[in-house]
Amino acid sequence: MKVSVIGLGYVGSVTAACFAEIGHEVVCVDIDENKIKNINEGISPLYEEGLRDLLLKYAGKKLIATNDYEFAIKVTDVSFICVGTPSAKNGSIDLSIVRAAVKSIGAALKTKEGYHVVVVKSTVVPETTEKFVLPILEEASGKIVGKDIGVAVNPEFLREGKAVHDFMHPDKIVIGAIDRKSGDLVSELYRTFECEVTLIDPTTAEMIKYVNNSLLATKISFANEIGNICKKLGIDTYKVMEAVGKDFRISPKFLNSGVGFGGSCFPKDVKALIGKAKEIGYSPILLESVIEVNEKQPLLMIEILQRKIGDLRNKKIAVLGLAFKDGTDDIRESRAIPVIAELLRLGANISAYDPTGSEKMKRVFPTIGYSRNAEDSLEGADACLVMTEWDEFTQLESEFEKMKKKIVIDGRRIIKAKNIDYEGLCW
Ligand code: UDX
Repeated sequence: MKVSVIGLGYVGSVTAACFAEIGHEVVCVDIDENKIKNINEGISPLYEEGLRDLLLKYAGKKLIATNDYEFAIKVTDVSFICVGTPSAKNGSIDLSIVRAAVKSIGAALKTKEGYHVVVVKSTVVPETTEKFVLPILEEASGKIVGKDIGVAVNPEFLREGKAVHDFMHPDKIVIGAIDRKSGDLVSELYRTFECEVTLIDPTTAEMIKYVNNSLLATKISFANEIGNICKKLGIDTYKVMEAVGKDFRISPKFLNSGVGFGGSCFPKDVKALIGKAKEIGYSPILLESVIEVNEKQPLLMIEILQRKIGDLRNKKIAVLGLAFKDGTDDIRESRAIPVIAELLRLGANISAYDPTGSEKMKRVFPTIGYSRNAEDSLEGADACLVMTEWDEFTQLESEFEKMKKKIVIDGRRIIKAKNIDYEGLCW
């Protein structure tokens, strides 16, 4: 089939490339000329394992990029909205980019003959497609949804860095369609997958996405709360979770305690669901506590640091790990951000290192020191905080000898070095 994909972030780029891989013809649409140029030259606009190979394979053939909505909508049967849905100041969802995309699609549909399906893949709070997207679409196209236009919601469950793998190996395909015709057309796109397709209504599909992310985030904050309690009792929380995870109803995944969750999804999605709940008059105390635990967790690193070396003024602190997790250069909501902010407030001198995330962190903290490798970052440091689960940190040993004091506080249970003054955040 012929598919248009609106928005070339990690979801849009991966969705476009993988749809091409499973046999569809894809037209990507974005407003960023640089991203369009990159895609058409087979250059990946961002780091995603496997994406570059797919773009090289299909760019200019089954996959092209443009800023021309009119053209994209005219030559395709179905359009996927994959634009960002950032948090507004109060944590609720900001739908301004979705609105712009829907209006542009609607305007293009005005002059298009024949049936066309619009699919919302962006993460939007429940009721958005029915109450926000549909009216804008009808207004902008002058057409009738359910007659000339089909609409569906098809949420993604892609981990950053592993998005190509996750797209090609789904454990569920969720399609929330306004009618059978829309649902069948979108299901047809995924016919090559053996995976079961869950066909439901749009609002339920939107809720499935939020509950999926919120439950994963809840597991992490739960693990962190248990980790904090276990540490006070001298219990190894990882041994506890290894056993608890054997319960088939629980699974051991996402029970690793540490400095907490970052990324462009968990914090945003949990806060957006909280905002939606409050909007409809419900007080989501559990979801709010998931955020509260996650916001407090990284600051416990500073408490341990102060207990070990006292006043931080003019002390040199090495921060190893800036990305929100390993395998990506993305620093959005990284747990290193509140830690660096607090270290600066307390007057410490910081030397930071990350294999990929330094360039992006320089935009947030331009005045701190950035090192090219862990060893340089550790040189003469009074202490070291480990914030990201990079595999290379498991190899560090002799590098710690460069420190003034070999105090290492590990926020991700990743350090294996022996003769250091080691303390784990929750172990
Ligand atoms: C997440 C979801 O996994 C994915 O399904 C959804 O579509 C988007 O959001 P992502 O944000 O890319 O994916 O990262 P993920 O691998 O889930 O990790 C999220 C954060 O949780 C990272 O900061 C990671 O360090 C942290 N984490 C993860 C923990 O602190 N403990 C864990 O046990 C697992």
